[in-house]
Amino acid sequence: MAKLHINCENVKETIQPEIYGHFSEHLGRCIYEGIYVGEDSEIPNVNGMRTDVVEALKEIKIPVLRWPGGCFADEYHWKDGIGPKENRKKMVNTHWGGVVEDNSFGTHEFFELCRQLGCKTYVNGNVGSGTVQEMSEWVEYMTFDGVSPMAQLRKENGHEEPWTVDYFGVGNENWGCGGNMRPSYYADLYRRYQTYVRNYNPEKPISKICGGANVDDYHWTKTVLDVTHDHTLPRFHGFMDGLSLHYYVHPEGWEIKGSATEFDEEVWYKTLKKALYMETLIERHGAIMDEYDPDKKIGMIVDEWGCWFTCEPGTNPGFLYQQNTMRDALVAGITLNIFNKHCDRVKMANLAQMVNVLQAVLLTEGKKMIKTPTYHVFHMYRHHQGAKLLDSTLTGVETIGIGEWKVPEISESVSVDKDGIVTVTVNNLSATNENKLDIVFAGMEECMVMEAKIVSGQMQDYNTFENGDCVKEQDFDAYSVQGDMIHLNLPACSVVELRIGR
Ligand code: AHR
Repeated sequence: MAKLHINCENVKETIQPEIYGHFSEHLGRCIYEGIYVGEDSEIPNVNGMRTDVVEALKEIKIPVLRWPGGCFADEYHWKDGIGPKENRKKMVNTHWGGVVEDNSFGTHEFFELCRQLGCKTYVNGNVGSGTVQEMSEWVEYMTFDGVSPMAQLRKENGHEEPWTVDYFGVGNENWGCGGNMRPSYYADLYRRYQTYVRNYNPEKPISKICGGANVDDYHWTKTVLDVTHDHTLPRFHGFMDGLSLHYYVHPEGWEIKGSATEFDEEVWYKTLKKALYMETLIERHGAIMDEYDPDKKIGMIVDEWGCWFTCEPGTNPGFLYQQNTMRDALVAGITLNIFNKHCDRVKMANLAQMVNVLQAVLLTEGKKMIKTPTYHVFHMYRHHQGAKLLDSTLTGVETIGIGEWKVPEISESVSVDKDGIVTVTVNNLSATNENKLDIVFAGMEECMVMEAKIVSGQMQDYNTFENGDCVKEQDFDAYSVQGDMIHLNLPACSVVELRIGR
């Protein structure tokens, strides 16, 4: 019999809200159409931002948004995206679909979007094809309050006050689309570029993110830290606040990827097994980070993660538009549980990407918008944001799967918020079997379930523009409470959230 043991007396680190962060790139229909439609659009909007999308994102308490890329970031020249729109440069988005980028969404629009969302800002700078001067001037433009050419330019463009840049990425995937660099070369560039990412407002220092590894490239992590660590230990404020990591789940490998909606049970388990690999990556990269930063002051920033499938038939292959099934919901549930459990090191994560691209939480088609299964998982898990991780362990859990693709049947994480309410998120990874789970508390004599929610269905279920409610969050009642114990019947293929008080 599977048991989840929760020790309410062993309260651990805070789960940074930023672990529930998102990513929006100038890619396909993410920014244009998905978020920004322009003020003259028939689609209801505020200053050009779709109202339906902004409202839906506010419901999941989006904590931070990364922009403008991705690969796009290392080709982005920010001055193309400021000033009167009719004068902004048009260019070809060479990375993504070869379409014309008219730069109508630029720096001012990004900060307006984050204002409407009420979220923190994560701006990714250009190291691959940009200069130190360009990066340094962008930071000055965004954040300087005094007399300077860039602050003056910002004011002339209609924004008197500086904005707050919470996070700044010094390049993206510099081992690949961001310049095909070797780690020691990038590390030297990091040292140089970050010097000019000035903190103009000591009250709101910018957290600087160093470009980290692709998947299991531990050599990258080791070398980058080796070349930079004389600055990090002893660490003078703000040299390196985060080191990124990118990992995508491709069930059939990078070349083939596999369909988002057509898959069998074997591919279901293969996908979940690959999602669970995130834990190994965090532990191994984390062990290297521990050598240089034992106090864990540098956050691991998983600023791109999610499922990457073959794009939907008939769509531009460069747009990376894919559907989102219950399988995505499980990948999200599993991955967020892993991040929660490693919140001593993982300080931010950004799902790729927010709207219409890869494992999106929202999909749009003209005026219509639907919430994906992944959206509903983020909605249930929002209670973990800013709460403290609680010690929890599973016993008696069987493994399930096909062939080499075996996974534990259950995944979980537990937190306690400032009001003492415990949030438990559990996933049943079995595509076919219901699972019983007993939750046992140490340090809580009587428990009371205040809220119980579930997202479940058949493994291939997804929402469409005709039926946006096929997969949705629903009340969950397959549980009973006995003193300090809760008995759950978890349906196959499900993500469950319980909020428990005393
Ligand atoms: O998210 C899509 C792309 O994946 C990003 O632009 C890039 O950083 C990564 O390779």
